[in-house]
Amino acid sequence: MLDIKITKTTNPKQKPAADQPLKFGKIFTDHMFVMNYTEGKGWHDPRIVPFQNISLSPAAMVYHYGQEMFEGLKAYKGENGEIHLFRPDMNAKRTNVTNERLCIPQIPEEDFVQAVKAVVDVDRDWVPSAPGTSLYVRPFIIATDEFLGVAPSQTYLFMVILSPSGAYYSSGLAPVGIWIEDEYVRAVRGGMGFAKTGGNYAASLIGQVKAHDGGYSQVLWLDGVERKYIEEVGAMNIFFKIDGKVVTPVLNGSILPGITRDSTINLCKSWGIEVEERRISVDEVIEAQQSGRLEEVFGTGTAAVISPVGKLRYVDDVMVINDGKIGELSHRLYETMTGIQYGKIDDPFGWRVTI
Ligand code: PLP
Ligand code: COI
Repeated sequence: MLDIKITKTTNPKQKPAADQPLKFGKIFTDHMFVMNYTEGKGWHDPRIVPFQNISLSPAAMVYHYGQEMFEGLKAYKGENGEIHLFRPDMNAKRTNVTNERLCIPQIPEEDFVQAVKAVVDVDRDWVPSAPGTSLYVRPFIIATDEFLGVAPSQTYLFMVILSPSGAYYSSGLAPVGIWIEDEYVRAVRGGMGFAKTGGNYAASLIGQVKAHDGGYSQVLWLDGVERKYIEEVGAMNIFFKIDGKVVTPVLNGSILPGITRDSTINLCKSWGIEVEERRISVDEVIEAQQSGRLEEVFGTGTAAVISPVGKLRYVDDVMVINDGKIGELSHRLYETMTGIQYGKIDDPFGWRVTI
């Protein structure tokens, strides 16, 4: 149990008006959680302070070798003003999986969850209530040693910042167009694709720029060795509905084990829909589309929720999925997932954590 010292701001910011359309990740709340790590002492000085800039040496290791990690979850406002988190224990577990790969010290799961709950509670009035909005929670850790040698840092900062946000894609639930990247790769097995760390996203930017230039909103990555098997999208996992079955790439070490992915698999199974986690090649997807068996494609992610895919481009092939419309399963998953998250429906899996 952390003994969190709370210093409230004396200068609260203006909150966005209830009818102001919110973008993703542009506005930050009044407070943030901070905790230090020092080798030999462990994690110490957990505190909530006014949101402010931090000062680090230009030699801080994070700037040079990218030793850092981050997480993403959301706080949702229910109809009676109560605030819910969605499976924060899963973010805590994934933090430690990432930390192990990046040689960052472990954080006790209960401390991670306590920190998130505490800072969301302090800024609970910032959780927006317009439909589709939420408070995006961004925990992250950076290496802070002032040292240019390549080695794990001996000091770190763990912080949690909060951003009232709207839909990740400006199109909302309207189907997105996705570019299947055939030149660059994001991650390889044995690398750090399964970890939530900045380097993976830095590696993905060039594909993102290409996709945008080509008129698509996201990139779908193929495996880094054969460039043949489907991996994941820039900020979401990917699902295909083929012949009534749901297929998603198996967790093979190079894709992020998404919490929305896991929840989607559980929901589909609970509805009696067969789910296959396996390798799926881009050729199989093209073949399924050509033979009329590809019923739906959708992405899953905390920021993106359930995001129907209306169009997939691969080299010279442009596949229009389900006439570019939202599929029935995507719609049902979106309604159920958000229903649980916002406290509108029963939560048979015990995923909701009310603060
Ligand atoms: N894949 C990548 C690369 C992501 O950045 C995300 C977003 O967090 C996901 C998948 C989906 O993961 P989750 O459902 O845990 O948000
Ligand atoms: C999330 O869905 O939480 C993410 O982290 C996506 C992010 C890269 C914007």
